[in-house]
Amino acid sequence: MSLSVIILAAGQGTRMKSTLPKVLHPISGRPMLHYVVEAAQALSDDVHIVLYHQHERIREDLEAHFENLRFTLQDHANYPGTGGAVMNVPVRHDKVLVLNGDMPLVTAEALEPLVSKEADIVMSVFDLPDPSGYGRVVIEEGEVVGIVEEKDCTPKQKEIKTVNAGVYCFKKAVLDRHLPNLSNDNAQQEYYLTDLIAMTRSEGGHIVPVWVEEAAFKGVNSRYDLANAERIMQNRIKERWMRAGVTMRLPETIYIDSRAVLEGDCILENGVTIQGETKIISSHIKAHSVIEESIIENSSVGPLARIRPASRLVNTHIGNFVEVKKSTLKGVKAGHLSYLGDAEIDEGTNVGAGTITCNYDGKAKYKTKIGKNVFIGSDSQLVAPVTIEDDVIIAAGTTVTKDVEKGALAIARTPLKSVAGFFYKFFGAK
Ligand code: UD1
Ligand code: MG
Repeated sequence: MSLSVIILAAGQGTRMKSTLPKVLHPISGRPMLHYVVEAAQALSDDVHIVLYHQHERIREDLEAHFENLRFTLQDHANYPGTGGAVMNVPVRHDKVLVLNGDMPLVTAEALEPLVSKEADIVMSVFDLPDPSGYGRVVIEEGEVVGIVEEKDCTPKQKEIKTVNAGVYCFKKAVLDRHLPNLSNDNAQQEYYLTDLIAMTRSEGGHIVPVWVEEAAFKGVNSRYDLANAERIMQNRIKERWMRAGVTMRLPETIYIDSRAVLEGDCILENGVTIQGETKIISSHIKAHSVIEESIIENSSVGPLARIRPASRLVNTHIGNFVEVKKSTLKGVKAGHLSYLGDAEIDEGTNVGAGTITCNYDGKAKYKTKIGKNVFIGSDSQLVAPVTIEDDVIIAAGTTVTKDVEKGALAIARTPLKSVAGFFYKFFGAK
Protein backbone atom coordinates (compact mmCIF):
# COMPACT_ATOMS: atom_id res chain seq x y z
CA MET A 1 0.00 0.00 0.00
CA SER A 2 1.33 3.45 -0.83
CA LEU A 3 0.99 4.78 2.69
CA SER A 4 3.50 6.48 4.95
CA VAL A 5 3.06 6.55 8.72
CA ILE A 6 4.32 9.16 11.17
CA ILE A 7 4.27 8.21 14.85
CA LEU A 8 4.44 11.17 17.21
CA ALA A 9 6.52 10.37 20.26
CA ALA A 10 8.37 13.61 21.01
CA GLY A 11 6.15 14.82 23.84
CA GLN A 12 7.47 14.94 27.37
CA GLY A 13 4.72 12.91 29.00
CA THR A 14 4.82 15.15 32.09
CA ARG A 15 1.64 13.68 33.52
CA MET A 16 3.29 10.27 33.91
CA LYS A 17 5.61 11.81 36.54
CA SER A 18 8.36 9.43 35.52
CA THR A 19 12.01 9.41 34.46
CA LEU A 20 11.17 6.64 32.01
CA PRO A 21 9.89 8.14 28.73
CA LYS A 22 6.11 7.76 28.56
CA VAL A 23 6.12 5.67 25.40
CA LEU A 24 8.52 3.15 26.98
CA HIS A 25 6.21 2.38 29.89
CA PRO A 26 5.33 -1.28 29.46
CA ILE A 27 1.90 -2.74 28.90
CA SER A 28 1.64 -6.52 29.11
CA GLY A 29 5.41 -6.86 28.94
CA ARG A 30 6.27 -4.49 26.08
CA PRO A 31 6.77 -0.72 25.84
CA MET A 32 3.53 0.89 24.67
CA LEU A 33 5.24 2.33 21.61
CA HIS A 34 5.97 -1.20 20.31
CA TYR A 35 2.28 -1.89 19.75
CA VAL A 36 1.92 1.30 17.73
CA VAL A 37 4.98 0.52 15.62
CA GLU A 38 3.70 -2.99 15.00
CA ALA A 39 0.33 -1.66 13.79
CA ALA A 40 2.13 0.90 11.59
CA GLN A 41 4.44 -1.67 10.02
CA ALA A 42 1.48 -3.89 9.20
CA LEU A 43 0.15 -1.05 7.03
CA SER A 44 3.23 0.63 5.62
CA ASP A 45 6.82 0.18 4.48
CA ASP A 46 7.61 3.81 5.32
CA VAL A 47 7.26 4.29 9.07
CA HIS A 48 8.70 7.42 10.72
CA ILE A 49 9.09 8.10 14.41
CA VAL A 50 9.28 11.70 15.63
CA LEU A 51 11.33 12.06 18.80
CA TYR A 52 12.67 14.78 21.02
CA HIS A 53 12.53 14.20 24.78
CA GLN A 54 14.92 11.34 25.64
CA HIS A 55 15.26 10.57 21.94
CA GLU A 56 18.43 8.50 22.31
CA ARG A 57 16.87 6.15 24.78
CA ILE A 58 13.72 5.63 22.76
CA ARG A 59 15.59 5.19 19.50
CA GLU A 60 17.94 2.64 21.04
CA ASP A 61 15.01 0.63 22.34
CA LEU A 62 13.20 0.68 19.01
CA GLU A 63 16.27 -0.23 16.99
CA ALA A 64 16.80 -3.27 19.20
CA HIS A 65 13.32 -4.56 18.33
CA PHE A 66 12.37 -3.29 14.87
CA GLU A 67 13.92 -2.86 11.44
CA ASN A 68 13.37 -0.21 8.76
CA LEU A 69 12.24 2.57 11.04
CA ARG A 70 13.14 6.15 10.19
CA PHE A 71 13.66 8.75 12.86
CA THR A 72 13.13 12.51 12.83
CA LEU A 73 14.19 14.82 15.62
CA GLN A 74 11.57 17.48 16.22
CA ASP A 75 12.76 21.11 16.37
CA HIS A 76 10.97 21.34 19.67
CA ALA A 77 12.54 24.60 20.83
CA ASN A 78 11.20 26.51 17.83
CA TYR A 79 8.23 24.39 16.78
CA PRO A 80 6.61 22.69 19.77
CA GLY A 81 3.28 20.88 19.44
CA THR A 82 1.79 18.16 17.28
CA GLY A 83 2.02 20.38 14.19
CA GLY A 84 5.68 21.08 14.85
CA ALA A 85 6.25 17.34 15.19
CA VAL A 86 5.03 16.61 11.66
CA MET A 87 7.15 19.32 10.00
CA ASN A 88 10.14 18.10 7.98
CA VAL A 89 9.37 14.39 8.14
CA PRO A 90 10.60 13.02 4.78
CA VAL A 91 7.63 10.78 3.94
CA ARG A 92 7.73 8.90 0.65
CA HIS A 93 4.07 8.19 -0.16
CA ASP A 94 1.06 10.32 -1.11
CA LYS A 95 -1.02 9.31 1.87
CA VAL A 96 0.25 9.93 5.39
CA LEU A 97 -1.23 8.36 8.49
CA VAL A 98 -0.36 10.21 11.71
CA LEU A 99 -0.47 8.15 14.93
CA ASN A 100 0.38 8.95 18.52
CA GLY A 101 3.01 6.91 20.30
CA ASP A 102 0.89 6.84 23.43
CA MET A 103 -1.96 4.82 21.89
CA PRO A 104 -0.94 1.26 22.66
CA LEU A 105 -4.37 -0.23 21.99
CA VAL A 106 -4.45 0.73 18.34
CA THR A 107 -4.32 -2.09 15.78
CA ALA A 108 -3.94 -2.31 12.02
CA GLU A 109 -7.59 -3.48 11.74
CA ALA A 110 -8.82 -0.47 13.71
CA LEU A 111 -6.85 1.86 11.40
CA GLU A 112 -8.08 0.28 8.19
CA PRO A 113 -11.26 2.46 7.86
CA LEU A 114 -9.12 5.60 8.13
CA VAL A 115 -6.64 4.68 5.45
CA SER A 116 -9.14 3.18 3.00
CA LYS A 117 -11.26 6.36 2.68
CA GLU A 118 -10.47 9.04 0.12
CA ALA A 119 -10.46 12.67 1.31
CA ASP A 120 -7.97 15.46 1.86
CA ILE A 121 -8.03 14.55 5.53
CA VAL A 122 -9.69 11.56 7.15
CA MET A 123 -9.83 11.96 10.89
CA SER A 124 -10.78 9.68 13.76
CA VAL A 125 -13.47 10.80 16.18
CA PHE A 126 -15.56 9.32 18.97
CA ASP A 127 -18.37 10.54 21.18
CA LEU A 128 -17.75 10.77 24.90
CA PRO A 129 -20.17 11.57 27.71
CA ASP A 130 -17.25 13.36 29.38
CA PRO A 131 -15.11 14.84 26.59
CA SER A 132 -12.73 16.76 28.89
CA GLY A 133 -9.10 16.79 27.85
CA TYR A 134 -9.82 16.16 24.17
CA GLY A 135 -10.06 18.54 21.21
CA ARG A 136 -13.72 19.08 20.27
CA VAL A 137 -14.73 18.37 16.68
CA VAL A 138 -17.19 20.62 14.89
CA ILE A 139 -19.07 18.66 12.22
CA GLU A 140 -21.43 20.21 9.68
CA GLU A 141 -23.24 18.23 7.00
CA GLY A 142 -21.09 15.18 7.48
CA GLU A 143 -17.78 17.00 7.17
CA VAL A 144 -15.42 18.28 9.80
CA VAL A 145 -15.21 22.05 9.78
CA GLY A 146 -12.85 22.54 12.69
CA ILE A 147 -11.24 21.26 15.90
CA VAL A 148 -10.99 23.37 19.01
CA GLU A 149 -8.55 22.36 21.72
CA GLU A 150 -10.05 22.19 25.20
CA LYS A 151 -7.85 25.06 26.38
CA ASP A 152 -9.15 27.24 23.53
CA CYS A 153 -12.84 26.28 23.81
CA THR A 154 -15.68 28.72 24.43
CA PRO A 155 -18.14 27.44 27.09
CA LYS A 156 -20.52 26.39 24.30
CA GLN A 157 -17.80 24.49 22.40
CA LYS A 158 -16.86 22.69 25.61
CA GLU A 159 -20.25 20.97 25.47
CA ILE A 160 -19.50 19.24 22.17
CA LYS A 161 -19.28 15.49 22.84
CA THR A 162 -17.60 14.48 19.59
CA VAL A 163 -13.85 14.54 20.13
CA ASN A 164 -10.67 14.17 18.14
CA ALA A 165 -9.22 10.70 18.72
CA GLY A 166 -5.85 12.05 17.50
CA VAL A 167 -5.27 9.87 14.41
CA TYR A 168 -5.48 11.31 10.91
CA CYS A 169 -4.83 10.26 7.37
CA PHE A 170 -3.63 13.23 5.29
CA LYS A 171 -2.95 13.65 1.63
CA LYS A 172 0.74 14.49 1.55
CA ALA A 173 -0.12 17.57 -0.53
CA VAL A 174 -2.16 18.91 2.40
CA LEU A 175 0.83 18.63 4.73
CA ASP A 176 3.22 20.16 2.20
CA ARG A 177 0.89 23.06 1.55
CA HIS A 178 -0.25 23.98 5.05
CA LEU A 179 2.44 22.99 7.55
CA PRO A 180 4.65 26.00 6.68
CA ASN A 181 1.72 28.31 7.45
CA LEU A 182 0.87 26.99 10.92
CA SER A 183 0.99 29.51 13.73
CA ASN A 184 1.28 29.11 17.48
CA ASP A 185 -1.31 31.75 18.29
CA ASN A 186 -3.24 29.73 20.87
CA ALA A 187 -3.48 29.09 24.62
CA GLN A 188 -0.50 26.71 24.69
CA GLN A 189 1.60 28.63 22.16
CA GLU A 190 2.13 25.42 20.26
CA TYR A 191 1.85 24.50 16.62
CA TYR A 192 -1.32 22.43 16.44
CA LEU A 193 -1.65 19.74 13.81
CA THR A 194 -5.38 20.14 14.26
CA ASP A 195 -5.26 23.63 12.70
CA LEU A 196 -4.71 21.94 9.34
CA ILE A 197 -8.38 21.06 9.43
CA ALA A 198 -9.58 24.67 9.30
CA MET A 199 -6.87 25.60 6.80
CA THR A 200 -7.84 22.78 4.45
CA ARG A 201 -11.51 23.53 4.89
CA SER A 202 -11.09 27.22 4.05
CA GLU A 203 -9.74 26.23 0.67
CA GLY A 204 -12.70 23.95 -0.01
CA GLY A 205 -10.95 20.71 0.90
CA HIS A 206 -12.84 17.68 2.23
CA ILE A 207 -12.37 16.45 5.76
CA VAL A 208 -14.21 13.26 6.57
CA PRO A 209 -14.76 12.03 10.12
CA VAL A 210 -14.57 8.32 10.89
CA TRP A 211 -16.12 7.17 14.16
CA VAL A 212 -13.75 4.74 15.80
CA GLU A 213 -13.98 2.47 18.82
CA GLU A 214 -12.77 4.37 21.84
CA ALA A 215 -10.98 1.36 23.34
CA ALA A 216 -8.53 1.11 20.43
CA PHE A 217 -7.72 4.83 20.31
CA LYS A 218 -7.40 5.57 24.00
CA GLY A 219 -4.36 7.74 24.72
CA VAL A 220 -2.24 7.08 27.79
CA ASN A 221 -1.35 10.30 29.59
CA SER A 222 -1.18 9.24 33.24
CA ARG A 223 -0.45 6.08 35.18
CA TYR A 224 -4.16 5.77 35.73
CA ASP A 225 -4.62 5.62 31.96
CA LEU A 226 -1.74 3.14 31.83
CA ALA A 227 -3.53 0.79 34.22
CA ASN A 228 -6.75 1.06 32.23
CA ALA A 229 -4.97 0.38 28.96
CA GLU A 230 -3.29 -2.63 30.59
CA ARG A 231 -6.69 -4.00 31.58
CA ILE A 232 -8.03 -3.70 28.05
CA MET A 233 -4.88 -5.27 26.62
CA GLN A 234 -5.05 -8.16 29.12
CA ASN A 235 -8.67 -8.83 28.23
CA ARG A 236 -7.73 -8.99 24.56
CA ILE A 237 -4.82 -11.35 25.19
CA LYS A 238 -6.85 -13.67 27.41
CA GLU A 239 -9.85 -13.74 25.10
CA ARG A 240 -7.56 -14.74 22.25
CA TRP A 241 -6.08 -17.66 24.22
CA MET A 242 -9.41 -18.84 25.57
CA ARG A 243 -10.80 -18.88 22.04
CA ALA A 244 -7.71 -20.85 21.02
CA GLY A 245 -8.59 -23.55 23.59
CA VAL A 246 -7.02 -22.52 26.91
CA THR A 247 -9.11 -23.00 30.06
CA MET A 248 -8.86 -20.12 32.54
CA ARG A 249 -10.39 -20.17 35.98
CA LEU A 250 -11.43 -16.62 36.96
CA PRO A 251 -9.60 -15.04 34.01
CA GLU A 252 -9.85 -11.54 35.51
CA THR A 253 -7.25 -12.64 38.10
CA ILE A 254 -4.77 -13.97 35.52
CA TYR A 255 -1.95 -11.96 33.90
CA ILE A 256 -0.41 -13.05 30.60
CA ASP A 257 2.47 -11.27 28.84
CA SER A 258 1.72 -10.33 25.24
CA ARG A 259 4.75 -12.37 24.13
CA ALA A 260 3.70 -15.60 25.86
CA VAL A 261 2.53 -18.56 23.78
CA LEU A 262 0.14 -21.30 24.90
CA GLU A 263 -0.28 -24.50 22.92
CA GLY A 264 -2.30 -27.70 23.23
CA ASP A 265 -4.57 -28.37 26.17
CA CYS A 266 -3.67 -25.86 28.87
CA ILE A 267 -5.37 -24.96 32.12
CA LEU A 268 -4.52 -21.77 34.00
CA GLU A 269 -6.03 -21.42 37.45
CA ASN A 270 -6.85 -18.17 39.22
CA GLY A 271 -4.05 -15.79 40.13
CA VAL A 272 -1.53 -17.20 37.64
CA THR A 273 1.09 -14.80 36.23
CA ILE A 274 2.87 -15.59 32.99
CA GLN A 275 5.71 -13.25 32.12
CA GLY A 276 8.05 -12.74 29.18
CA GLU A 277 8.51 -15.04 26.24
CA THR A 278 7.12 -18.03 28.07
CA LYS A 279 5.85 -21.06 26.18
CA ILE A 280 3.32 -23.36 27.83
CA ILE A 281 2.42 -26.57 26.07
CA SER A 282 -0.34 -28.90 27.30
CA SER A 283 0.22 -28.05 30.94
CA HIS A 284 -1.72 -27.22 34.07
CA ILE A 285 -0.61 -24.13 35.97
CA LYS A 286 -2.29 -24.09 39.37
CA ALA A 287 -3.46 -21.16 41.46
CA HIS A 288 -1.11 -18.25 42.21
CA SER A 289 1.93 -19.59 40.40
CA VAL A 290 4.36 -17.30 38.57
CA ILE A 291 6.07 -18.40 35.36
CA GLU A 292 8.83 -16.17 33.95
CA GLU A 293 10.49 -16.58 30.51
CA SER A 294 10.37 -20.38 30.59
CA ILE A 295 9.16 -23.40 28.66
CA ILE A 296 6.66 -25.70 30.37
CA GLU A 297 5.64 -28.83 28.50
CA ASN A 298 3.27 -31.62 29.61
CA SER A 299 3.74 -30.57 33.19
CA SER A 300 1.83 -29.38 36.21
CA VAL A 301 3.03 -26.46 38.31
CA GLY A 302 1.81 -25.13 41.64
CA PRO A 303 -0.27 -24.01 43.40
CA LEU A 304 2.01 -21.21 44.64
CA ALA A 305 5.13 -22.14 42.70
CA ARG A 306 7.60 -19.87 40.94
CA ILE A 307 9.41 -20.79 37.75
CA ARG A 308 12.09 -18.20 37.02
CA PRO A 309 13.73 -17.35 33.68
CA ALA A 310 15.43 -19.85 31.41
CA SER A 311 13.82 -22.91 32.96
CA ARG A 312 12.50 -25.84 30.99
CA LEU A 313 10.10 -28.35 32.49
CA VAL A 314 9.07 -31.45 30.53
CA ASN A 315 6.76 -34.17 31.90
CA THR A 316 7.39 -32.73 35.32
CA HIS A 317 5.38 -32.10 38.45
CA ILE A 318 6.19 -29.04 40.53
CA GLY A 319 4.27 -28.57 43.77
CA ASN A 320 3.70 -25.73 46.21
CA PHE A 321 6.48 -23.42 47.37
CA VAL A 322 8.97 -24.72 44.84
CA GLU A 323 11.24 -22.20 43.11
CA VAL A 324 13.02 -23.23 39.92
CA LYS A 325 15.59 -21.02 38.19
CA LYS A 326 17.57 -21.59 34.98
CA SER A 327 17.09 -25.34 35.28
CA THR A 328 16.02 -28.16 33.01
CA LEU A 329 13.81 -30.83 34.57
CA LYS A 330 12.64 -33.81 32.53
CA GLY A 331 10.28 -36.34 34.08
CA VAL A 332 10.90 -35.02 37.59
CA LYS A 333 8.72 -34.73 40.69
CA ALA A 334 9.42 -31.88 43.11
CA GLY A 335 6.30 -31.69 45.21
CA HIS A 336 7.10 -29.29 48.02
CA LEU A 337 9.28 -26.51 49.34
CA SER A 338 12.44 -26.58 47.25
CA TYR A 339 14.90 -24.32 45.48
CA LEU A 340 16.29 -25.74 42.26
CA GLY A 341 18.68 -23.31 40.55
CA ASP A 342 21.21 -23.86 37.75
CA ALA A 343 20.30 -27.54 37.79
CA GLU A 344 19.78 -30.30 35.26
CA ILE A 345 17.60 -33.09 36.56
CA ASP A 346 16.74 -36.22 34.61
CA GLU A 347 13.89 -38.68 34.31
CA GLY A 348 12.37 -40.58 37.21
CA THR A 349 14.03 -38.41 39.85
CA ASN A 350 12.13 -37.46 42.99
CA VAL A 351 13.12 -34.28 44.77
CA GLY A 352 12.12 -34.45 48.45
CA ALA A 353 10.60 -31.59 50.41
CA GLY A 354 13.10 -28.97 51.47
CA THR A 355 15.78 -29.84 48.90
CA ILE A 356 18.05 -26.95 48.04
CA THR A 357 20.63 -26.63 45.32
CA CYS A 358 23.27 -24.38 46.89
CA ASN A 359 24.24 -22.80 43.59
CA TYR A 360 25.89 -19.63 44.83
CA ASP A 361 28.96 -19.31 47.03
CA GLY A 362 28.76 -15.55 47.40
CA LYS A 363 30.91 -14.91 44.32
CA ALA A 364 29.83 -17.17 41.50
CA LYS A 365 27.05 -19.54 40.45
CA TYR A 366 27.62 -23.26 39.92
CA LYS A 367 25.73 -26.14 38.36
CA THR A 368 24.07 -29.17 39.87
CA LYS A 369 23.63 -32.25 37.65
CA ILE A 370 21.29 -34.99 38.76
CA GLY A 371 20.82 -38.19 36.75
CA LYS A 372 17.90 -40.57 36.27
CA ASN A 373 15.89 -42.29 39.03
CA VAL A 374 17.59 -40.44 41.85
CA PHE A 375 15.74 -40.30 45.16
CA ILE A 376 16.62 -37.16 47.07
CA GLY A 377 15.47 -37.41 50.68
CA SER A 378 13.85 -34.42 52.36
CA ASP A 379 15.89 -31.50 53.64
CA SER A 380 18.97 -32.21 51.56
CA GLN A 381 21.43 -29.61 50.38
CA LEU A 382 23.32 -30.12 47.15
CA VAL A 383 26.39 -27.90 47.22
CA ALA A 384 27.29 -27.00 43.63
CA PRO A 385 29.22 -27.68 41.52
CA VAL A 386 28.13 -31.26 42.03
CA THR A 387 27.08 -34.26 39.94
CA ILE A 388 24.80 -37.03 41.13
CA GLU A 389 24.76 -39.97 38.76
CA ASP A 390 21.80 -42.28 37.95
CA ASP A 391 20.11 -44.54 40.51
CA VAL A 392 21.36 -42.74 43.59
CA ILE A 393 19.67 -42.43 46.98
CA ILE A 394 20.41 -39.31 48.99
CA ALA A 395 19.39 -39.88 52.60
CA ALA A 396 17.11 -37.27 54.17
CA GLY A 397 19.01 -34.42 55.78
CA THR A 398 22.21 -34.98 53.82
CA THR A 399 24.52 -32.18 52.73
CA VAL A 400 26.09 -33.37 49.48
CA THR A 401 29.49 -31.77 49.00
CA LYS A 402 31.01 -34.11 46.42
CA ASP A 403 29.93 -36.11 43.38
CA VAL A 404 27.95 -39.31 44.00
CA GLU A 405 28.50 -42.31 41.72
CA LYS A 406 25.85 -44.45 40.01
CA GLY A 407 23.86 -46.74 42.27
CA ALA A 408 25.25 -45.35 45.57
CA LEU A 409 23.64 -44.19 48.79
CA ALA A 410 24.87 -40.81 50.00
CA ILE A 411 24.31 -40.13 53.65
CA ALA A 412 25.85 -37.46 55.85
CA ARG A 413 24.25 -37.33 59.27
CA THR A 414 25.32 -37.03 62.85
CA PRO A 415 24.30 -40.33 64.47
CA LEU A 416 21.21 -39.93 66.66
CA LYS A 417 21.79 -39.93 70.38
CA SER A 418 18.85 -40.80 72.66
CA VAL A 419 19.19 -39.84 76.32
CA ALA A 420 16.79 -41.94 78.40
CA GLY A 421 14.53 -40.00 80.82
CA PHE A 422 16.01 -36.59 79.98
CA PHE A 423 12.54 -35.01 79.55
CA TYR A 424 11.61 -35.68 83.16
CA LYS A 425 14.99 -34.54 84.42
CA PHE A 426 14.59 -31.25 82.55
CA PHE A 427 10.91 -30.44 83.09
CA GLY A 428 10.45 -32.36 86.29
CA ALA A 429 8.45 -35.52 86.83
CA LYS A 430 4.78 -35.57 85.74
C1 UD1 B 1 -4.06 15.87 20.89
C2 UD1 B 1 -4.97 16.69 19.97
C3 UD1 B 1 -6.40 16.67 20.50
C4 UD1 B 1 -6.88 15.21 20.62
C5 UD1 B 1 -5.90 14.39 21.46
C6 UD1 B 1 -6.25 12.92 21.38
C7 UD1 B 1 -3.55 18.48 19.09
C8 UD1 B 1 -3.21 19.93 19.14
N1 UD1 B 1 -4.48 18.06 19.93
O1 UD1 B 1 -4.08 16.51 22.18
O2 UD1 B 1 -7.25 17.37 19.61
O3 UD1 B 1 -8.17 15.17 21.17
O4 UD1 B 1 -4.55 14.52 20.97
O5 UD1 B 1 -5.41 12.17 22.20
O6 UD1 B 1 -2.98 17.77 18.30
N2 UD1 B 1 3.86 15.23 20.53
C9 UD1 B 1 5.02 15.45 19.84
N3 UD1 B 1 5.59 16.68 19.88
C10 UD1 B 1 5.05 17.71 20.56
C11 UD1 B 1 3.85 17.50 21.26
C12 UD1 B 1 3.27 16.25 21.22
O7 UD1 B 1 5.54 14.53 19.22
O8 UD1 B 1 5.63 18.79 20.55
C13 UD1 B 1 3.26 13.89 20.52
C14 UD1 B 1 3.12 13.32 21.91
O9 UD1 B 1 4.28 12.58 22.26
C15 UD1 B 1 1.91 12.42 21.76
C16 UD1 B 1 1.08 13.10 20.66
O10 UD1 B 1 1.97 13.98 19.99
O11 UD1 B 1 2.25 11.13 21.32
C17 UD1 B 1 -0.11 13.85 21.20
O12 UD1 B 1 0.35 14.86 22.06
P1 UD1 B 1 -0.44 15.27 23.37
O13 UD1 B 1 0.31 16.33 24.06
O14 UD1 B 1 -0.82 14.06 24.15
O15 UD1 B 1 -1.72 15.94 22.71
P2 UD1 B 1 -3.10 16.13 23.42
O16 UD1 B 1 -3.05 17.32 24.28
O17 UD1 B 1 -3.53 14.84 24.02
MG1 MG C 1 -2.45 12.84 24.50
